Amino acid sequence: MPHTTRDSRQILVTSALPYANGAIHLGHLLEYIQTDIWVRFQKSRGHECHYVCADDAHGTAIMLRAEQEGITSEALIERVSREHQQDFATFGVAFDNYHSTHSEENRYFSELIYTRLRDAGHIATRDIEQMYDPVKGLFLADRFIKGTCPKCRAEDQYGDNCEACGATYTPAELIDPVSAISGATPEVRSSTHFFFKLPDFADFLHEWINQGHVQPQIRNKLMEWFEAGFNEWDISRDAPYFGFEIPDAPGKYFYVWLDAPIGYLASFKHLCEREGLDFDAYWKTDSSAEVYHFIGKDIVYFHALFWPAMLHGADFRTPTAVNCHGFVTVNGAKMSKSRGTFIKAATYADFLNPEYLRYYFAAKLTSRVDDLDLNLEDFAARVNSDLVGKVVNIASRCAGFVKKLGGGRLSAHCAEPDLVARLIAAGDEIAEDFEAREFGRAVRRIMDLADEANTYIAEAEPWVLAKQPGREQEVLDICSVGINLFRQLMVYLAPIVPAMADASREFLKLDSLAWESRHEVLLDHEIAKFKPLMTRVERDKIDAMIEASKEDLVEERKLKETPKGPLTEDPVAAEIAFEDFAKVDLRIARIAKADYVEGADKLLQLTLDLGGETRTVFAGIRSAYAPEALEGRLTVMVANLAPRKMRFGVSEGMVLAAGSGDGIYLLSPDSGAEPGQRVK
Ligand code: MSP
Ligand code: ZN
Repeated sequence: MPHTTRDSRQILVTSALPYANGAIHLGHLLEYIQTDIWVRFQKSRGHECHYVCADDAHGTAIMLRAEQEGITSEALIERVSREHQQDFATFGVAFDNYHSTHSEENRYFSELIYTRLRDAGHIATRDIEQMYDPVKGLFLADRFIKGTCPKCRAEDQYGDNCEACGATYTPAELIDPVSAISGATPEVRSSTHFFFKLPDFADFLHEWINQGHVQPQIRNKLMEWFEAGFNEWDISRDAPYFGFEIPDAPGKYFYVWLDAPIGYLASFKHLCEREGLDFDAYWKTDSSAEVYHFIGKDIVYFHALFWPAMLHGADFRTPTAVNCHGFVTVNGAKMSKSRGTFIKAATYADFLNPEYLRYYFAAKLTSRVDDLDLNLEDFAARVNSDLVGKVVNIASRCAGFVKKLGGGRLSAHCAEPDLVARLIAAGDEIAEDFEAREFGRAVRRIMDLADEANTYIAEAEPWVLAKQPGREQEVLDICSVGINLFRQLMVYLAPIVPAMADASREFLKLDSLAWESRHEVLLDHEIAKFKPLMTRVERDKIDAMIEASKEDLVEERKLKETPKGPLTEDPVAAEIAFEDFAKVDLRIARIAKADYVEGADKLLQLTLDLGGETRTVFAGIRSAYAPEALEGRLTVMVANLAPRKMRFGVSEGMVLAAGSGDGIYLLSPDSGAEPGQRVK
């Protein structure tokens, strides 16, 4: 990493822009909290660091949602932006600027980048055929078309894949297709679309991917895509569309994903205008500033392929790094509305302190792309034992004696210089962990130091000495060391728990808890009266939050009718002969591996072990299961189903599950069954 040798760095950081049609939930918060911690750390180190974000305001979904609510798109994005910013503030996510992709700056940069790409020959146009809703007067994206699956005949399936059998197809192949918006039968119509010629950038991207701008796991994934070859990217949508019209192309709009990442530039530009910063110093091709995008693993394609190619093709610098994180699961499973684990930020904050969540996420975050499980038992135990039991405990045990014996002033000399020096020195390694986004490792180191501090106080027993006449100075000395150790810990924890740090800073009567300030030991220094800096997690609050999340779902169902209608019952199958049934080879399979499938929000890719033989199966069970919750478990599969080629690979069979939609229940054998055994 070339930048670490420089002393003061110029750093621009972004988080992905949340869609302006839904509330912020705990899954989103992993990203904003991860980014915010990293930014606060950089600022604490004295670097020039700017953190910008915006609402992702364009697209059909937002347009339709506004229509449903009977308001304009502009009014909807206004309201949602306020709600989002309120949620972020509640969780201490401190953007330097929060903007919108529906802004003049974004229109300017979208047009600029597009025209530069066009003039350099990277834009193509051609006519494509698409489903059109004649009642609504709207071209329909695949997810707005429903019909009967051409493979298994399940009704009410989306236009691109079947939840029941996992088949993928084009909307034109659906039986009896209808528009999910109006119910009308769609027609096929042709219109001209604009394409970004991604293949022009194949060589550039190949190099870029291999230069350390992405994590190793992401690099591997990208190389797989790379080998599969790139297509041109359709960047236009026909009117009516909520977005920006394409220059010189009346009635054609930029697809939302074209102008969304450009929103990073727009938000930063807006900040530069307000604060007199030099935009070009950050974005010109030979910039020495650093630019980091924090994103979730579902949007890698856009950020690590399209975006660098667009920037490069339009003469802007490319990102220093795209930092990708995994997905939040709750109690080992994908967040689920019916289980009450799809928890909105605002609902959480009604019951629990946002800093608990910041601490828990930090304690579990690594620099890798793995999913992160919010286990609510572990969450409570961890926060209570670490933050309350270890850290706050040091201050609360020492503060009273300082007040009583020193009149609120710490001792004028340090009784344990080695111990204090050790905690100060540890700051270098902790800083390396923060820099590398190894927050979990940083937290472990900090808690080890907290253990050391507690051991020191426990062994010195100031409360015993305090009862012995003439030993007041000794007690004050010990407790002053304790307060100094607490101060070091709060310097290190400040990026993670800023509100607790701020309360601690006031208690310590310090102007700052910045990283370098820790070198000055507090001697003969006045402190304030101690107030509890963090209280324990109460389990009944967690239960109440889950209940409230279930109620959120009921409210939502009343308000909003999603493109996918109510779940319909599966059609009753026709009678078959025993010989037909006997043809089905059902086997016990062990799920050796389960993965998300890029670009398929309903599927998981399962690697099944049939006792020696391995099969790959794409199953439409993503809404109900987190991949890691499946690994190792036994299920039943159809082993002699003809292999089906899907968009993502070949599916070599099928696993058996009951239900559909949110309530999917994978079948399991009783214990004792072995992988490969025949099911009869
Ligand atoms: N609007 C796009 C991003 C455009 S960036 C130019 C988008 N929005 S989103 O609201 O769906 O997601 C915002 C961020 O939150 C994404 O990085 C996404 O990966 C992340 N997360 C959404 N749900 C998540 C979890 N359950 N867990 C972790 N991160 C998740 O995508
Ligand atoms: Zn089907």
